[in-house]
Amino acid sequence: MNIPIIRTQKPKVKPQDESKLGFCKSFSDYMFIMEYNEKDGWHSPRVQPYGPLNIDPASPVLHYAQEIFEGLKAYRRSDGTIGLFRPLENARRMNRSAERMCIPPIDEEIQLQAMKTIVEVEKDWVPKSPGTSLYLRPTVIAEGNTLGVHAADRYIYFIICSPSGAYYESGLKPVRIHIEPNYVRSVKGGTGGAKTGGNYACSLRAAEDAKKHGFDQVLWLDGKRNRYIEEVGAMNVMFMIDGKLITPQLSGSILAGITRDSVLQLARDRGIPVEERAISVYELIDAYKVGKLTEAFGTGTAAVISPIGELVFKDNVLNLGEDIGEVSQYMYDTLTGIQCGKLPDAHNWTMEVCKA
Ligand code: PLP
Ligand code: COI
Repeated sequence: MNIPIIRTQKPKVKPQDESKLGFCKSFSDYMFIMEYNEKDGWHSPRVQPYGPLNIDPASPVLHYAQEIFEGLKAYRRSDGTIGLFRPLENARRMNRSAERMCIPPIDEEIQLQAMKTIVEVEKDWVPKSPGTSLYLRPTVIAEGNTLGVHAADRYIYFIICSPSGAYYESGLKPVRIHIEPNYVRSVKGGTGGAKTGGNYACSLRAAEDAKKHGFDQVLWLDGKRNRYIEEVGAMNVMFMIDGKLITPQLSGSILAGITRDSVLQLARDRGIPVEERAISVYELIDAYKVGKLTEAFGTGTAAVISPIGELVFKDNVLNLGEDIGEVSQYMYDTLTGIQCGKLPDAHNWTMEVCKA
């Protein structure tokens, strides 16, 4: 695939203080973009200056939320290269989301080439400090000019990039999580397993309410019985109970996180017993009461490993302390160590993009 680069006349000033990057607060100079129509398929790939998209106000993405997205990071590595972490998994998941949302698939090799090209063009935007990276947001939106409810016949795929640090303002400090007793995010047969905007839109009410009470995020329960743990707004969730690492199984209503999969593998490598199964909120409370719930943490590309200091469900407060647990710290160090090339990559998870 030939990818022309249309150069900007106005390069931006890069953020100077990397300790204040936060998550996706500013974007780099360029974006990758291509379009789809039925006649030409995916066509006209190019890199162009980052800027507004010109779409019809009747486009289905704006009315019926026909869109999907991904999230992955480019890292500066200790051998002087820039690399991506498991980008093929993001490309595969993009196509699983595409299938669910009636969006035409994009060849995985083309997605990889798009990611690698934008990272190479924007390599100077990959920040240097520990804990930072260039976050990539590949996205597909449905375009059109009629308001009938049906799958669109035109789409835009783009990748924007943001130099980013910690997702939570507290950095690696343990977060406070509200276990949501009323609202639900996803049901069996719904779109919870796809990475699509509507899942996030419908989570905002509970998240905003929880924020007013000092929580960082919401932990969702299953949509049928309001009983089984699902996932947090922007991350999968794991618990250390009685020496075992336990996380909800993938049953279609939660996202199949790439960090989740990596952490489960790292746990198996270390000999930590792993269970992927239904966990009721009451099991969690009982385990806490008898001292068997020793750690809880979230996993995600943006969140990396996010230790959970407190879980609150109705009148139950599960206080796990202000210190990062041993397994959470091990997972954070090992994962980021592999991503930055400081630790051996036994599973071939990283992909070199270019020299820094
Ligand atoms: N769950 C949700 C709802 C998410 O938005 C994310 C973030 O991508 C995750 C889980 C974690 O997925 P991953 O580890 O692939 O980033
Ligand atoms: C990611 O971790 O890449 C995500 O997409 C989470 C995002 C919704 C903040």
